[in-house]
Amino acid sequence: MTATIIDGKAHAARLRATIATHVAAFREQAGRAPGLAVVLVGEDPASSVYVKSKGRATREAGMESIEHRLPADTDDATLLALVETLNADPAVDGILVQLPLPKHLDTQAVLLAIDPDKDVDGFHPVNAGRLATGMPGFVPCTPLGCVMLLKSVLPDLTGLDAVVVGRSNIVGKPMAQLLIAESCTVTVAHSRTRDLPARVRQADIVVAAVGIANFIEGDWIKPGATVIDVGINRTEAGLVGDVDFAEAVEVAGAITPVPGGVGPMTIACLLRNTYVSACRRDG
Ligand code: GUN
Repeated sequence: MTATIIDGKAHAARLRATIATHVAAFREQAGRAPGLAVVLVGEDPASSVYVKSKGRATREAGMESIEHRLPADTDDATLLALVETLNADPAVDGILVQLPLPKHLDTQAVLLAIDPDKDVDGFHPVNAGRLATGMPGFVPCTPLGCVMLLKSVLPDLTGLDAVVVGRSNIVGKPMAQLLIAESCTVTVAHSRTRDLPARVRQADIVVAAVGIANFIEGDWIKPGATVIDVGINRTEAGLVGDVDFAEAVEVAGAITPVPGGVGPMTIACLLRNTYVSACRRDG
């Protein structure tokens, strides 16, 4: 039996349509549109594509996109001053500084400078702490989208065994926190984990976020498990995930494809966080 394919594109389209409806009502009531400021430093081609599509999606949802493109040789003081200006601007509900920044810049200092209550990426340590302690804040967009996709096939995650493969601040760690909050039993595995296939084989839920093409093999997957593939790896065969899809689809109960799985949910969740921020500030 082959797995159910979790259609992230369709879920994201529905979420974006719902947000657009809520944004229209917000505009009526507040007399302004929610605003998302996106800062891009330099001309990294992948980052430029992401920033362009974030801007388009923001406008399509009825929100204001405020884009700041700075030259690659921008210094820390200039970038920090821009962040301070955006922190103080009442028209800005969300601030996103596109990563990675050029190497000469202090990424930690920049992320710390963003007002946690405008940190729609959820990267500020205050928001990481809020997530870890169950307080309201902003949850990073990719793991938030993963949980939404998971719950579309498993409405109640209580008691399930989950393995998160990857321990990044942006995906692995917040993903683990979200699964704990859903009452899963969570293992966070990574490049130093011993006998990774055995760990993965025990899991009802596998979230793959290692950034290595086709890393997780089909025979690591427990029959019927739900597989969420966060990887986006460019190969000669095109874009592929961290899971060997052709193998895993024969074993899993449900699986996200790459592309068209988690990716589209990330931008939809960014729009959601921006709308939520506007409501908290001016609802
Ligand atoms: N670079 C790649 N993904 C992201 C993201 O979700 N947020 C930011 N700020 N930069 C990124």
